[in-house]
Amino acid sequence: MSFIVAIDGPAGAGKGTITKLVGEKLGLVNIDTGATFRCVALNMLQEKIDVKEENRIEEMLNRLHIDMYPNGKIYLNGKDVTKKIREKDVNDFVSPVAVLPIVRNKLLEVQRKIAEGKDVIMEGRDIGTVVFPNADVKIYLDAAAEERARRRVLQNQEKGIKSSYEEVLKGIKDRDKRDSTREIAPLKKAEDAIYVDSTNLSVEEVVEKIIGIIKEKK
Ligand code: DC
Repeated sequence: MSFIVAIDGPAGAGKGTITKLVGEKLGLVNIDTGATFRCVALNMLQEKIDVKEENRIEEMLNRLHIDMYPNGKIYLNGKDVTKKIREKDVNDFVSPVAVLPIVRNKLLEVQRKIAEGKDVIMEGRDIGTVVFPNADVKIYLDAAAEERARRRVLQNQEKGIKSSYEEVLKGIKDRDKRDSTREIAPLKKAEDAIYVDSTNLSVEEVVEKIIGIIKEKK
């Protein structure tokens, strides 16, 4: 029997950082489901497949092979795409790709399979609502859009990527809207998820809080 912690929430709420740290501290395998959508988006860009070309998407999904390693490396069809899936062209294309039922169905299978038989902490948008509705612990991690934009700009600076606050804030708001209003598996808090607002908390404080919640349930 596996133990499953679901962490859902909008872009930039800190899910990636927090999930990684909590996973390391509690010995849970960390799974970033956003990366699976990013891999599909990248593959479509590389093969010049449009969101309307259902047959080509289906054919591509049938050959899709994603590997995620404990060191954080992500391979798409045998190639290291860890950096490529975070680039702007993928950021801009991933939301329209993530609304496609054919993509969501395939990735649901992939995500459940990755977690099989393991104790995991899985982050995404619909983990507690759709992927693992019976997860042992469900957390909805949120923060004000302005704070999320501020964090993303700092993150970009650290990576040597120049970005303007206004542009990033607009991108975040657009993505929030698309992710939470789509028909299938929209971003929303599961009824039984615990709401954590990280706007005024440090990374350490959020990690402590979430570890406390998990320990209580274990
Ligand atoms: O967390 P992220 O920014 O890497 O996610 C990339 C996109 O994938 C985002 O626009 C929402 C989508 N996504 C999703 O629809 N369902 C998930 N479980 C995870 C991500």
